[in-house]
Amino acid sequence: MRHFVDLKDFDSDRLQAMLETAAQMKSGTDKSQPLAGKYVGMIFEKPSTRTRVSFEVGISQLGGTPVVLAASDLQLGRGESVADTARVLSRYLDAVMIRALRHETVTELAEYADIPVINGLTNLSHPCQIMADLQTILERLGSLTGIKICWLGDGNNVANSWIEAAALFGFELWLAGPEAYRPPAALLAWARAKGANITLTEDPVAAATDASVIVTDVWVSMGDEQGSRERDMQPFKATAKLMETAQPDAIFLHCLPAIRGQEVEAEVIDGPQSAVFDEAENRLHAQKAIMAHIISENF
Ligand code: CP
Ligand code: NVA
Repeated sequence: MRHFVDLKDFDSDRLQAMLETAAQMKSGTDKSQPLAGKYVGMIFEKPSTRTRVSFEVGISQLGGTPVVLAASDLQLGRGESVADTARVLSRYLDAVMIRALRHETVTELAEYADIPVINGLTNLSHPCQIMADLQTILERLGSLTGIKICWLGDGNNVANSWIEAAALFGFELWLAGPEAYRPPAALLAWARAKGANITLTEDPVAAATDASVIVTDVWVSMGDEQGSRERDMQPFKATAKLMETAQPDAIFLHCLPAIRGQEVEAEVIDGPQSAVFDEAENRLHAQKAIMAHIISENF
């Protein structure tokens, strides 16, 4: 069974092949419908705009039928086990995408399901987002190798998936944020053991200088307490001044939703270097490619 739970479950050749399929699907050179006659469930334990719509549209464009399930409408929300939910859904569906509060829900669903399971964001990772981001970088900059990527702010789920990507694709990753909000040490150790070139710093200028990509995310993720995050993260705001230290052709990425004036200045996210809406569009193409590769026998 080929699940899509985390980037680190794949080798870079396979992910590269998915990114090529994503580009072909976007350009229209690949119009195949590998999900014809197939049903794909979508379970949501948290809100979503991009994931919700891009998966539903993508499944339909690939010839499949989406089945959208709010977790609160399922018996899962009343305490039915993840294992039984997985066994039952496997009898009706051909694959299932889940946005879960706890990462363990996704790994348990994958353990007991006889169908592919796709991670549509958990507290620990957001692999579909990073596939769309990698597609956007390839479109704008042509290559992932040899470039410096600068992450600003919280060491959150999206940052974790960037760390996995750094271990697989060989770009230089700088993470600038407060020490108290660093990504898990075990994940960093795994990535470094794979040869990843990752630098942690509390100096945003050092991280942004000569970077090809500046990327950030909200300071308070779904499920996080606000606490003192807004004060703690202030030095790591994506500002126009910081963008000036990056490469002249650097792009700005943000998975969205964004809070202008908080983690990013409006003139950055709405400025000429911002690629955030291409990035959002690429969720559609990247996820279609992921589904084609893990659900269809033909990819
Ligand atoms: N970037 C992202 O996953 O957006 P949604 O929460 O709207 O799905
Ligand atoms: N880190 C954010 C990403 C939202 C798409 C969150 O988990 O809320």
